[in-house]
Amino acid sequence: SAAEKGGHDYFMLKEIAEQPKAVADTLLGRIDAAGSLTLDEVRIPAPVLREVDKVVVVACGTAFHAGMIAKYAVEHWTRIPCEVEPASEFRYRDPILGPRSLVIAISQSGETMDTLMAVRHAREQGSHVLAICNTNGSTIPRESDAVLYTHAGPEVAVASTKAFLTQLVACYLVALYLGQVRGTQWGDEIGAVVRDLSGISGAVERVLKTMEPVRALARSLAAKNTVLFLGRHVGHPVALEGALKLKELAYMHAEGFAAGELKHGPIALIEDDMPVVVVVPSPRGRSVLHDKIVSNIQEIRARGARTIVIAEEGDEAVVPYADHLIRIPATPTLLQPLVATVPLQVFACELATARGNEVDQPRNLAKSVTVE
Ligand code: G6P
Repeated sequence: SAAEKGGHDYFMLKEIAEQPKAVADTLLGRIDAAGSLTLDEVRIPAPVLREVDKVVVVACGTAFHAGMIAKYAVEHWTRIPCEVEPASEFRYRDPILGPRSLVIAISQSGETMDTLMAVRHAREQGSHVLAICNTNGSTIPRESDAVLYTHAGPEVAVASTKAFLTQLVACYLVALYLGQVRGTQWGDEIGAVVRDLSGISGAVERVLKTMEPVRALARSLAAKNTVLFLGRHVGHPVALEGALKLKELAYMHAEGFAAGELKHGPIALIEDDMPVVVVVPSPRGRSVLHDKIVSNIQEIRARGARTIVIAEEGDEAVVPYADHLIRIPATPTLLQPLVATVPLQVFACELATARGNEVDQPRNLAKSVTVE
């Protein structure tokens, strides 16, 4: 009913709108007044966490994209090698695991069979398993050594939105916590990131207020066959997530690429007026990354692409090459996915609607896949 959907046409729209609160709720009580992380709920003892020599993230679908972003955070803030793999592939290649491996299983439902089987396999190898999950008392947290719950609230739409943002928050918290427990060289940076995280819910709120042009753009592209998504660094998983959303909801051919890989093949796909969404990293900090992506945008535009550029407020360098410009608030590089994903969710939802698709219940998909 309309009431259940909080006045929105679809659960997906309601859940997109709930993201600022979901993000804030997932941070709540986990950072103390001094800016330290208080994750006592992660019942893996600190001495065990200090001994961890490898982190392995397993998940499926959208949660897998959260895992890809976790890798950047874990390796940067803790200097522990981190792998990420689709849960469905994990156990079949006999992965190298042991008591010093920390396996992080990310799942909104806590019932995804592929992820559960990966968890069981990891525990059989003596590894410690931490679940990041949105559903209290579900199977994956019950079978894990510890759980960090995301507090997104129930997610009804099949395509994951608010659960994804809270999975990212949980991944950042775990990475920062590992850094804190192990006393890495990034002490100052960790403090700064914790402060930035505290303001991120407001940034998500601001993005949501500027989505009308994104909806209009989506409607204008309803007759297109293909949309490509490009990103670098954490923008790469964001691009993959943007493409996944479009497949799931709009049933369109959509692909995400690492922008630097473009010249090694995918650039051949570009045809006149083909929409290409580019997620641009902040020009501050890692400016090399930014310069590279600006030339990627020029390259695709020279070949006829219609560029849809998602860039930080104040980033003027992209303006001459953007056929459509979507602004997002400035954030530290690693946190950008929390704001950059939101326009892609809105874009896919609006395109699905324009194409007459069922937004909350896309064809052939299930909210939780309990078979392998
Ligand atoms: C299904 C859903 C996806 C979801 C994936 C993982 O395929 O359609 O939206 O990302 O499962 O779900 P989980 O509950 O494990 O996060």
